[in-house]
Amino acid sequence: MRKWAVIYSSTTGNTKAIAEEISGVTGADIFRVQDAPTDLSAYEVVALGYWLRRGGPDDLMKAFLPKISNACVVLFQTHGTDVGSEHAVTSFARAAYLLGTDCEILGTFSAQGKLAPALIARRKKSDPDDTHNSPEAQERWVRAAEHPNEEDRAAAREFTLKMEHKLDLLEKFRQAQEARQHAAPQK
Ligand SMILES: Cc1cc2nc3c(=O)[nH]c(=O)nc-3n(C[C@H](O)[C@H](O)[C@H](O)COP(=O)(O)O)c2cc1C
Repeated sequence: MRKWAVIYSSTTGNTKAIAEEISGVTGADIFRVQDAPTDLSAYEVVALGYWLRRGGPDDLMKAFLPKISNACVVLFQTHGTDVGSEHAVTSFARAAYLLGTDCEILGTFSAQGKLAPALIARRKKSDPDDTHNSPEAQERWVRAAEHPNEEDRAAAREFTLKMEHKLDLLEKFRQAQEARQHAAPQK
């Protein structure tokens, strides 16, 4: 395993649960974003996890992402919206956009996460024409209430192993490329 740092932001524990799976597989150093170092040069992979707020990373992670530069990054997120929805996918783009210079994104992982009961209560009070309180939204809350579950946790572990495999392949590819360059006849 490479040397990983896992840095996460979480208020109700959903993102933390995924962060713990990733660090469990890799033996990573794990930090809450509030306590994370910004010099991450000792790490070969930096996994950054956040929860969605207003269609993008939460405020703590939003402030942290620009401090990361020159790193191999994995992004992971939890959200009330469905995995793979346009809303969830766009959020990865928003997080990526906030990263500092020279970061390479190795992969992304997403899981649904239950909404805090206080948020549901607030949304239930809003106008039924408000998309946050539509019948579709209410159905999503019910689906999200089951997550992250054991299946999500297993998917996070599998994803992490895939990232390691991807790095193995990239390393082999680079070595083969270098060997070809050395073997090429000098002109
Ligand atoms: C104030 C607030 C805003 C939220 N906004 C979104 C949102 O824009 N999109 C979304 O899919 N989920 C949204 N959620 C749901 C959370 O992203 C989701 O419950 C997440 O799993 C919480 O993660 P945590 O337990 O690690 O804090 C919001 C939750 C809160 C409390």
